[in-house]
Amino acid sequence: MVSSITVKAPSSTANLGPGFDVFGLAIDAFFDEITLTKTKNGITIITDGDVPTNPENNTAGLVVKNMKKKFKINHGIEIKMKKGIPAGFGMGSSAGSAAAAAVAFNKLFKLKLDGNSLVEFAGSGEKASAGTIHYDNVAASVLGGFVIVKTEPLDVIRIKPPTNLRMCIAVPKITVPKKKTKVSRGVIPKKVNLNDSILNLSNAATIVAGFMKKDSELIGKSIKDSIVEPARQHMIPGFLKVKSNALKAGALGVTISGAGPSVIAFSKKSSDLNKISLAMTKGFASANTKCQTIICKPSNGAINKIKNFR
Ligand code: HSE
Repeated sequence: MVSSITVKAPSSTANLGPGFDVFGLAIDAFFDEITLTKTKNGITIITDGDVPTNPENNTAGLVVKNMKKKFKINHGIEIKMKKGIPAGFGMGSSAGSAAAAAVAFNKLFKLKLDGNSLVEFAGSGEKASAGTIHYDNVAASVLGGFVIVKTEPLDVIRIKPPTNLRMCIAVPKITVPKKKTKVSRGVIPKKVNLNDSILNLSNAATIVAGFMKKDSELIGKSIKDSIVEPARQHMIPGFLKVKSNALKAGALGVTISGAGPSVIAFSKKSSDLNKISLAMTKGFASANTKCQTIICKPSNGAINKIKNFR
């Protein structure tokens, strides 16, 4: 009898500029690992990360709680979380845990759920950290590749990214607010100017075309956001300098990764990725901020990364 299962889920970048809450991309920068074990009763959480251990406030805990209720599972569950994705830096940390938990639960109880249902359950866990449900990060973390989140009803479209697409991410060493995603969602304008909306729509459509045509240049050059980035950039020290430095060093497009504060530069494998990373580091240094840089590529999702099924 299967009593325990471990699933790994990748980090992700949401929005990709103009696709706020709609676009996500799984990236192989970091991974979270969740092991679910059947126990007698209750939900217990053991973690090496700085995340809440009360199931209501923990993304993986909330996913397990919701799935247990929905499928009337009487077993207790122990959730062991190995946090690889830094929490609160715009790389889908809460989503990674939620995605791995949903995929592991599905396997452990042989539920045979489809991709959309797994994304929906994983998304229900986002409420624990963001205050609201958004599916862009969890969809990428569950399914892998580039995802487009169509809502009402939820239907996620996945596109395999071009093999030469690369990203340079700069993670600033700053203190982020506890409920960072909630805070950074609070600064977004409620009303949008028509011109900005046209610009974003045109760039978003071109990004989708770029993924369909496997054209990294088209994707990178369309990473432009006239709505959310201008509203959030003040939360990232030196953002404009980091961006202009990366573009000067050869990046195709630069924006905030998810809700920030990490900054992500889209490039091709043939670009000088170390030069772009260094340029971003110098940009942050101009605002007296240290950062960690990571060069990464698109990743598979949790559904392709199941370990030790026993
Ligand atoms: N689309 C979400 C946001 C992603 O930008 O608020 C949060 O990780």
